[in-house]
Formats: sequence, C-alpha cells, structure tokens
Amino acid sequence: MKSLFSLLVLVFTLFASSEFADTASCKKCHPTITTEFESSMHKHASIYEDKIHKAIWDKHPAKAKGNYKCAKCHTPNATTQEQAREGITCLSCHTISNVEKHAQSNKNVYTTKPKTFFSAEQGRETEVVKYKTVSSWFGMNKTTVGSAYHDIDYTNEQFYTGEMCMGCHSHKQNSHKFAVCETADAGAKNTKQNCITCHMPKIDGTATTVRQSAQHAYHGFAGAHVSTKMLSKYLTLSYIKEADKFNIIIDNQAPHDLMSHPLRVVQLCVIHTRNGIHTNLKTHTFVRVIGHEGKPDMPWLATEVIKNTMIKAKEKRLISFDKELKSGDQLEVVLGFYVVNPKVLKKLGLENEKSLKEFTVLQNKNFTIK
Ligand code: HEC
Ligand code: HEC
Ligand code: HEC
Ligand code: HEC
Ligand code: HEC
Repeated sequence: MKSLFSLLVLVFTLFASSEFADTASCKKCHPTITTEFESSMHKHASIYEDKIHKAIWDKHPAKAKGNYKCAKCHTPNATTQEQAREGITCLSCHTISNVEKHAQSNKNVYTTKPKTFFSAEQGRETEVVKYKTVSSWFGMNKTTVGSAYHDIDYTNEQFYTGEMCMGCHSHKQNSHKFAVCETADAGAKNTKQNCITCHMPKIDGTATTVRQSAQHAYHGFAGAHVSTKMLSKYLTLSYIKEADKFNIIIDNQAPHDLMSHPLRVVQLCVIHTRNGIHTNLKTHTFVRVIGHEGKPDMPWLATEVIKNTMIKAKEKRLISFDKELKSGDQLEVVLGFYVVNPKVLKKLGLENEKSLKEFTVLQNKNFTIK
C-alpha cells in the first residue's frame, strides 16, 4: 500500500511539471539509462557544457545577431536558457515522429501527443502500450503493463533502424550550400547493423526498475568523446610484409567516414623495434580540411574541401613504410585522434584545455614478425 501511495505521489508530481521533461523525471524509473545519458555528448551538447561548441559559436557571425541557429540540433527542445543547459534531452529523441529530408539540413518532426514516447522492440512493432493493471489468479496477483508515466508507441519504423538519428546527423550545409559535414545514409538504413547497434549496443543492466530486464541499450552514445573503446572492434589493424617494405592496413568497418567533424585529426603511429632499439616511423595523418580559395577556413566561410585524406566508409586503407622487416622485429601500431586539430586550438582560444590536447587511441596492436 505504501509503495502504491508513493507511486501515485510520484506520478502526480511528474505530470504537474511542464511539458519540458528534464532527465531527472526519467531517472526515477530509468536510473541506469539516465546515468549513462548524463555522461554523453548529447547531454553536454549546449554552449554551457561543450567548450568546443562554445568556442566555434563565439566566433560565428550569427552570434552578434543573437540568432542561435545551432539550437535545432544542439538544444532542440529548449525554450528558456535554463532548458538550454539540458542540451539534448530524452524527449529530443523519443518524441521524434518523423525525419523530413531537406537540402540544408534535415528536420525532426516531433509528435504533439503528450507523454507518448517512441521506442523499438522486436516482435512488438504494431503495439501502442498504455498503462494498466492486470489481475491473474482470481485477483490474487496484480501486475502492471506499460509505464505509469507515459505511453509507449512501438510502431515508428524509424526507431528500428538508425533513421531517427538522421534529423541531426545526416548533413549540414552552410549558407554557401557547402556541406560542412555529412554522415552516409547507408549506415542508418541497415536493419542488422546501424547507428543504434554500434553506438548504443545492448549492455547488461535493467532498462527500468519497475520491471527487470537483463539488458538495455547503452545511452552514453560511444563516440569521439565518450566510451571510444566500445567502438574499437569495428577498426582492425594488420600488416603485410613485402621484399623491401611493409604495409599497414586500416580496416574501417563503420559505414561512414572514420571521423565526420572537420575539427578532428586522425593519426597512425608506428614504432619499429629491432634488437631492443625503438624507432618511430613516419606518422601518417588523416584529415578532411574545409575552406575557401585553397586555404583552410571557418565552417561558415567554407566553399570547398581543401584536402581529404580521411579514411572512408568501409575502406581498407593501405599505408606503405619504406622499411624491410626481418624475422623477430616488432611493430607497435597505434591509430588514434585529436578531437580538435592541434593547429587550431590557439585560434579558438582552447590552448589551455588540457583534455583537448590529448591523443585518444582508437585501436592499437603489437606484431612480432615471423
Ligand atoms: C513511473 C516510472 C517511469 C517514469 C517516471 C518513466 N518511465 Fe519510461 N518506462 C517505465 C516502464 C515501467 C517501462 C517499461 C514498459 C514495458 O515494459 O511495457 C518504460 C519504458 C520506456 C521506454 C520504452 C522501452 C522499450 O521497451 O523499448 C522509453 C523510451 C521510456 N520508458 C522513456 C522514458 C522517458 C524519456 C522518461 C522521462 C521523460 C520516462 N521513461 C519516465 C516507467 C517509467
Ligand atoms: C543539423 C544539425 C546540426 C546543427 C544545425 C548544428 N550542429 Fe553542430 N553538430 C551536429 C552533430 C550531429 C554533431 C556531432 C557529429 C560529429 O561529431 O561529427 C555536431 C558537432 C559539433 C561540434 C563538435 C563538438 C565536439 O565537442 O567535438 C561543434 C564544434 C559544432 N557541432 C558546432 C556547431 C555550431 C557552432 C552550430 C551552429 C552555428 C552547429 N554546430 C549547428 C549537428 C548540428
Ligand atoms: C559498424 C559500426 C558503426 C555504425 C553502423 C555506425 N558507426 Fe558511427 N562510428 C563508428 C566508429 C568505429 C567510429 C570512430 C570511432 C569514434 O569516433 O570513437 C564512429 C564515429 C562516429 C561519430 C563521431 C565522429 C566524429 O567526428 O566525432 C559519430 C557522430 C557517429 N559515428 C555517428 C553515427 C551515425 C549517425 C550512424 C548511423 C548513420 C553511425 N555512426 C553508424 C562505428 C559505427
Ligand atoms: C539520441 C537519441 C536518444 C536519446 C537522447 C535517448 N534515447 Fe532512449 N533510446 C533511443 C533509441 C534509438 C532506443 C532504441 C534502442 C533499441 O533499438 O532498443 C532507445 C531505447 C530506450 C529505452 C528502452 C531500453 C532498451 O534497452 O530497449 C528506454 C527505457 C529509454 N531509451 C529511455 C531513455 C531515457 C530515460 C533517456 C534520457 C535519460 C533517453 N532514453 C534518451 C534513443 C535515445
Ligand atoms: C536532436 C539531434 C540529435 C539526434 C536526434 C541524435 N543526435 Fe547524436 N549528436 C547530436 C549533436 C548535436 C552531437 C554533438 C554534441 C557535441 O559534441 O556538442 C551529437 C553527437 C553524437 C555522437 C558523438 C559522441 C561523442 O562522444 O563524440 C554520437 C556517437 C551520436 N551523436 C550518435 C547518435 C545516434 C546513434 C543517434 C540516434 C539513435 C543520435 N546521435 C541522434 C545531435 C543528435
């Protein structure tokens, strides 16, 4: 009885709050998912929480006009500054009813049905679940179906692939109709392996405390800033020995270019060891530099790709080293990246941000030559 009473109080206070539901409202019944989400870049997407985003925004010409047009993707549900601090919220995704395709950038269409959340579950594709109590054993056993706080709509097809991610992730053109960044659509459409299966893999822990489930979809959103290691398995490194040289092969199994944001710099470092003597071989750099009239420039001024050596979607890139390998030699191969190109840190006033100077390892491997 006591627990039923506290549940009713809980439900009442939750419904009393405004339409803008912050993550705290969900934490009560989805603590694991919400805690993961709080560490994610989605949660930290606002200018208040993301120093890189703020640094770029501070230089953007739209700032002087007070037109924060980044809101569409970085703080989509916010109508006040306090709400903007929340960044992307649970509702920014779970209330997307459709994604409209547009040239400049796609657009999320949000449902107007109050407290109805879309989700995906195999075998329930046609169900809309409303909260109810069911009795069994002549009323001796009472169990509940659904959620006391919200309805669940399992019928939205876009949640069964990564298509619901594409309102924000597909592409973004600047005012010169130049695509500043793009993520290939192919990775969203695939039903077996898509944005969700790779970036939100099923991991142990219950999805809600109301009913126990063995697993839930990881809501930390593995990526460049968070849980990078979770994605290592989609990147493999190998070598081929030839007569007077050798090749390292980077196999990118992601259906999109290895890094999408033009600020990133990917590097391959190889250390060769023979008889205890370590030699750093030439570092290879992979970037997509955008700019204007042949020179790198800010995203809003860019009209062309100046240089694109980024590892492409599903590409096996072969990198040659002019060194003859001998039996017993060792190779330490490291593939990693800088979130912000070290060359532009100062320009953005980010030179004192220690964490942005760190090199993050995507994959590393040691080989002993046979
Ligand atoms: C009073 C408890 C409660 C609160 C508060 C709550 N939920 Fe839920 N939620 C549940 C329960 C219980 C289920 C599982 C229903 C089922 O298994 O049929 C659920 C299921 C879900 C699902 C679908 C899961 C699936 O099976 O695919 C989503 C999405 C969801 N909740 C999102 C949210 C969001 C977002 C919030 C905050 C705005 C929230 N919930 C707040 C209890 C709650
Ligand atoms: C169409 C949706 C969309 C709009 C509009 C948008 N962004 Fe983004 N932004 C994204 C997505 C998606 C990412 C993450 C993708 C990635 O990392 O490649 C991102 C990432 C970024 C990052 C990298 C952040 C980091 O922590 O590494 C910066 C900086 C950024 N955006 C700046 C801006 C600015 C400034 C504006 C407004 C002038 C803006 N964005 C508008 C979708 C958008
Ligand atoms: C086969 C697994 C796989 C699939 C499918 C996949 N990704 Fe990725 N994704 C990766 C890997 C690997 C990386 C690079 C490692 C990293 O950034 O931590 C990555 C990186 C990213 C990044 C960070 C890039 C940056 O520059 O900051 C974003 C954003 C992203 N993916 C979004 C998506 C979206 C959206 C989809 C669906 C269209 C998708 N991914 C599909 C594996 C995948
Ligand atoms: C960036 C988009 C996005 C955001 C933000 C987001 N979710 Fe989800 N969530 C999804 C997707 C997609 C799924 C379906 C995953 C799948 O295929 O099972 C999902 C699944 C769920 C489920 C079902 C769990 C499971 O394992 O099937 C619950 C519950 C849930 N989300 C709650 C939340 C809560 C609570 C928040 C905020 C703290 C939140 N979500 C934020 C995209 C999002
Ligand atoms: C409402 C817009 C929106 C939606 C919907 C959305 N994202 Fe994002 N996503 C962003 C923005 C904006 C960023 C960049 C945040 C930042 O760094 O400031 C981002 C960043 C990311 C990152 C990079 C995280 C990191 O650590 O670098 C990944 C991975 C990602 N999103 C995956 C997804 C997946 C998978 C989906 C679909 C389930 C999805 N997103 C749906 C807007 C969105």
